[in-house]
Amino acid sequence: MKLTAIGLRKNWIYEALVATYHIDGTTPNIAMMGISTPDMEHIVIRPYVTSDTYKNILHHRCAVIEFIYEPNILYNAVFKGWGKGPSEPELPPNCFKHAKVVNAPVLKDSKFWIEVRMCNMCGISGGRATIICEVVHIEGVSREGAIIRPYCRAEGCFVEALVAASRLLAAIEEKRLRDSLLLLQMLHICYDIIKRTAPDSEYLRLTRSLIEDIHERFKRAI
Ligand SMILES: Cc1cc2nc3c(=O)[nH]c(=O)nc-3n(C[C@H](O)[C@H](O)[C@H](O)COP(=O)(O)O)c2cc1C
Repeated sequence: MKLTAIGLRKNWIYEALVATYHIDGTTPNIAMMGISTPDMEHIVIRPYVTSDTYKNILHHRCAVIEFIYEPNILYNAVFKGWGKGPSEPELPPNCFKHAKVVNAPVLKDSKFWIEVRMCNMCGISGGRATIICEVVHIEGVSREGAIIRPYCRAEGCFVEALVAASRLLAAIEEKRLRDSLLLLQMLHICYDIIKRTAPDSEYLRLTRSLIEDIHERFKRAI
């Protein structure tokens, strides 16, 4: 099943919720994780081996990838039940329904999700496993595409880079050295995130040219 219809770009990282059942087979678990596709047919998930998601995917060999960006749900998905197993669920079980094809939960309010089956695990590095999954079902795609746009951190970081650059111009002009250095650091942090989450993108190309331009102005001003 192709991911082209939902507007994912190859090798970009999107922030999503990964939903699985715990190894007790009944308690739902959700965790916020970055997902990507190397070929528009598979999804790569990189869970820490200490996470519940890792244990659950290895046990059930499937998961649901959801695109919900409601702050309370995200907060619980990150900070509740980290590696605690079914003893500390992120949300009560009645917030979930069963997925259409795979043995995994889906949030009741979800309108757009991807169901995946694990194909392979390509080793562990930096405490994280690389799990390759096959897409077996996509829910919530109309003729116009996905009803929710999957979020890539490069988008937000590009806006922050523009904000930092515009403030930098003023700081350089007014010879505020400390502010200039802090803003320059911010610009480089944004660049690094964009490079990691949206390689080969217009976001990256424009941020690189922004940094080159700012460095030139900086050199001229000091
Ligand atoms: C934006 C964002 C992205 C994240 N991406 C990952 C990831 O790719 N892999 C991972 O193991 N944890 C990731 N986390 C941290 C997990 O959400 C967090 O450790 C969670 O509690 C794990 O839950 P679990 O033990 O129920 O699986 C991310 C957190 C945030 C805020």
